[in-house]
Amino acid sequence: MTYRDTAIEVAGLTTSYGDHAVLRGIDLTVPTGTVYALLGPNGAGKTTMVRILSTLVAADEGRARIAGFDVRTQPDRVRRCIGVTGQFSAIDELLTGRENLRLMADLAHLDAREAGARVADLLVRFGLADAAGRRAATYSGGMRRRLDLAMTLVSRPRVIFLDEPTSGLDPRSRRDLWQVVRELLAGGVTIFLTTQYLEEADQLADTVGLLDGGRLVATGTPAELKLRAGGETLDDVFLALTGHAVATPADQDERQAAR
Ligand SMILES: Nc1ncnc2c1ncn2[C@@H]1O[C@H](COP(=O)(O)OP(=O)(O)OP(=O)(O)O)[C@@H](O)[C@H]1O
Ligand SMILES: [Mg+2]
Repeated sequence: MTYRDTAIEVAGLTTSYGDHAVLRGIDLTVPTGTVYALLGPNGAGKTTMVRILSTLVAADEGRARIAGFDVRTQPDRVRRCIGVTGQFSAIDELLTGRENLRLMADLAHLDAREAGARVADLLVRFGLADAAGRRAATYSGGMRRRLDLAMTLVSRPRVIFLDEPTSGLDPRSRRDLWQVVRELLAGGVTIFLTTQYLEEADQLADTVGLLDGGRLVATGTPAELKLRAGGETLDDVFLALTGHAVATPADQDERQAAR
């Protein structure tokens, strides 16, 4: 297989923080032009996985290739073809929406004309044209998420990592974002997303991987997993295959509030 067929290829990926083993031998393959959704409870290692695949941290063992490039030995090549929207926003609150996008265009070395056109196009596509001149500090949560994703797309990445892209969004904003993901897919990009929303994986993913205890305990299409676990929803599937429920965003909010 070449990178034309395979956007992400991971073999034996293993990593620990101190004596806490977070990933214990992850193998996965994501065909180009598809969506892979990584599901798992809080602390399962989803963000760690995204950070390794996007060259932000090195794994202890194993191999990962993005668009044919090795994350360890060719990180610059990898960075040139990926976009990452983190679990926590990359927006500069003091800048306007337009300035945030413009900054990304400068980082991507677009020339002035191309940058101007690209930024204008993204502002319209993400419904931010009217708010483009306002400081991002004044944006709602949904607007921030859209701006964050638009910033990721400035450089036209071929492989996009979305770490919990819709957490904290209301149902309508979530649907809008799903629509954006579908449009990106239609344009041929590959998407690796993590989510706590099983419905999201069901809606968007070609392949779902369930991460638990540092291992992928099940992989398949949403339909295959439902069949295998005899459940109707991915919640049932998770419970059947791991013996415990997926932490919901509400659980997460409660936990944060308790801190
Ligand atoms: N920099 C770090 N130093 C030490 N431990 C870390 C570090 N980053 C993550 N961990 C630990 O690694 C484990 C996996 O964390 P990670 O953030 O990848 O989980 P997650 O699946 O993204 O969780 P969530 O759903 O809460 O976002 C957790 O136990 C976490 O405490
Ligand atoms: Mg995370």
